[in-house]
Amino acid sequence: MAHFLKELNDAQRVAVEKIDGPVMVIAGAGSGKTRVLTYRIAYLLDKGVDAFNILSLTFTNKAAREMKDRIGKIVGDGEAKNLWMGTFHSVFAKILRIEAERLGYPINFTIYDADDSKKLISTIIKEKQLDKDIYKAKSVSSRISSLKNNLLTPKAYFQNGELQAQDSAAKMPMFGEIYQAYTERCFRAGAMDFDDLLLKTNELLYKFPEVLAKYQNRFKYILVDEYQDTNHSQYLIVKALAAKYENICIVGD
Ligand SMILES: Nc1ncnc2c1ncn2[C@@H]1O[C@H](COP(=O)(O)OP(=O)(O)OP(=O)(O)O)[C@@H](O)[C@H]1O
Ligand SMILES: [Mg+2]
Repeated sequence: MAHFLKELNDAQRVAVEKIDGPVMVIAGAGSGKTRVLTYRIAYLLDKGVDAFNILSLTFTNKAAREMKDRIGKIVGDGEAKNLWMGTFHSVFAKILRIEAERLGYPINFTIYDADDSKKLISTIIKEKQLDKDIYKAKSVSSRISSLKNNLLTPKAYFQNGELQAQDSAAKMPMFGEIYQAYTERCFRAGAMDFDDLLLKTNELLYKFPEVLAKYQNRFKYILVDEYQDTNHSQYLIVKALAAKYENICIVGD
C-alpha cells in the first residue's frame, strides 16, 4: 500500500483506490471529501497515470492551488505542476482560448466580469428607452445568467412561449429583445461573459465531435469537488467529457 494512504480513514481509502469507473462521495461538511480528491490524484500519479490525463474541477482557484501544493508534497512538485486544476470557469476559459475560432471568436477574446455585463445591459436598456425602474439591470442580468446556465440562447427563448410569458408576467415583455441585443453585442465585441465560458464550452463539445474526442481522450480521469453546487451547464460539460472513459469521481454534500 502506498505510504500516504495511511493518512486516510477506511471509507476515504475505498473512494481513493477505486480508480476505474464512476465514484460518487456524498458526505457531510468537513468530513474529508476534498481530502479524498487530493489523495485520489496523488494515488493516480503514484500508479503512473500522467498528470496530463487528469482534470480536477474545484470550487475556487485557491482550493485548486492548495490541493496542488498538497499533492506536490505527497508525490513531488514535478508531477503536480502539470495537473489541470481550477474552477470550471478558469479551466474552460483555457480550453476556449485554444478553440475559440471554431465558434467565431478571436482566441484572445475578452472576458466580461459581472460589472462589465451589467454596464452593457444598462446601456441596452437605455438605448431601448425602457423604464430602468422596471427593467433593473441586476434582475435582467440574473435572468440572462439563469437562461444561459440552462443553455437557453435567445433563439431558444423566442421559441419558448412559457419563458416569454414569465417575463411578461414580471412586467418585462421586452426582456427577450434585451437578451438578444446583449448576446449580439458581446459577440461582436469578441467578448464572453462568465456564463458564456460554460455555454460556449458546451457548444464546442456538442457541435464539434473531433474537439469532444480530443478532450475526452485527454482527460481520462475527472474529479469534481463541491458537486452539489454545479449548475446544469457545468453538469453537461462533465457528462460529455466523462462519457468515454467514465473514470469520474464527484464529491459533495
Ligand atoms: N483521515 C483524516 N485524517 C486526518 N485529518 C483529516 C482526515 N480527513 C480529513 N481531515 C482533515 O479534516 C479537515 C476537513 O477535511 P476536508 O477539507 O477534506 O473536508 P470536506 O468534506 O472537503 O470539507 P467541506 O465540506 O468544508 O468542503 C481538513 O483539515 C483535513 O485535513
Ligand atoms: Mg471540501
